Amino acid sequence: MAAFVPPNERRVHSPHLPLGDHREAPFYGKDIISVSQFTRDDLEYIFGVAKEMRAMVERVGTFDLLKGKILANLFYEPSTRTSSSFLSAMERLGGSVIPISEVTYSSVAKGESLPDTIRTLECYADVIVIRHPEVGSAKLAAEYARKPIINGGDGIGEHPTQALLDLFTIEEELGRVDGLTVTMLGDLKYGRTVHSLARLLSLFVVRLNYVSPDILHMPADLIEELAAKGVSQKEYTNLDPVLAETDVLYVTRVQKERFEDLNDYEKAKGAFLISPETLQEAKEEMIVMHPLPRVGEISLELDSDPRAAYFRQMEYGLYVRMALLAMVLGKA
Ligand code: CP
Repeated sequence: MAAFVPPNERRVHSPHLPLGDHREAPFYGKDIISVSQFTRDDLEYIFGVAKEMRAMVERVGTFDLLKGKILANLFYEPSTRTSSSFLSAMERLGGSVIPISEVTYSSVAKGESLPDTIRTLECYADVIVIRHPEVGSAKLAAEYARKPIINGGDGIGEHPTQALLDLFTIEEELGRVDGLTVTMLGDLKYGRTVHSLARLLSLFVVRLNYVSPDILHMPADLIEELAAKGVSQKEYTNLDPVLAETDVLYVTRVQKERFEDLNDYEKAKGAFLISPETLQEAKEEMIVMHPLPRVGEISLELDSDPRAAYFRQMEYGLYVRMALLAMVLGKA
């Protein structure tokens, strides 16, 4: 009987790789589950590929790097940006997409398990992006899959591709990451984007400020994890003490869908509103980011301020996700 080979090791041994594939490429056949898997060298590599993708999109729009490849976009939770940017990324690379949104019309509605759904989709697709309400769901999917799994957000856990595009945004907008003061504001308890971004920023020399209502603090275990790495972190309930020193103001929405007690949501919502008046005391050269959607925490009047980077941030996401798809499929 053949020795058991774990799925993650099985997937790279196809004898039928077409010309142009790069088996030795660092992310070929790999899953993207957590930002903890990345080094600074990895980030430099990913962002280098993302810049090439941007240049190609600006030059030709769509090209055939992933022609013949298929992405399964499996979303158990609502999404606009993550789902449509992965779809756009795959189509701009010449591939195609099986879109399964909110799973209402798939066999999940009949009670199919996550492992069975993954085993099904990998018969038809070369890579799977999954968003799921449970922490650890992407990791579980990867344990069953022979094809690369990309975590598009697992409950209040992580959102690694968002953190990559957030970091790319910071580098592109401010030209560096080391030495910056990043202030995260809003729902830091349930916001998976800030969990992933804080972990990713721990690879750099940064100061992190956490501004949140009392009931929405950054999780203590995450603060301890970063403290053990020597990251400077401070907590506040008000933005005023840290606004003037802030280079990146990362605003998040209070996540109604994660609250067990809606009375707590009612108390926490509307705690912050970032407006042109708020930024009067901020640096001229700083940026305001938001993973979006926003539901009232940034005023529409701020949109025309050049420091409002949240719409540009979405576009950076397209290039980062094109890079990730090309990399895990051995084409970058
Ligand atoms: N930032 C983000 O994850 O947005 P969506 O929920 O629209 O995908």
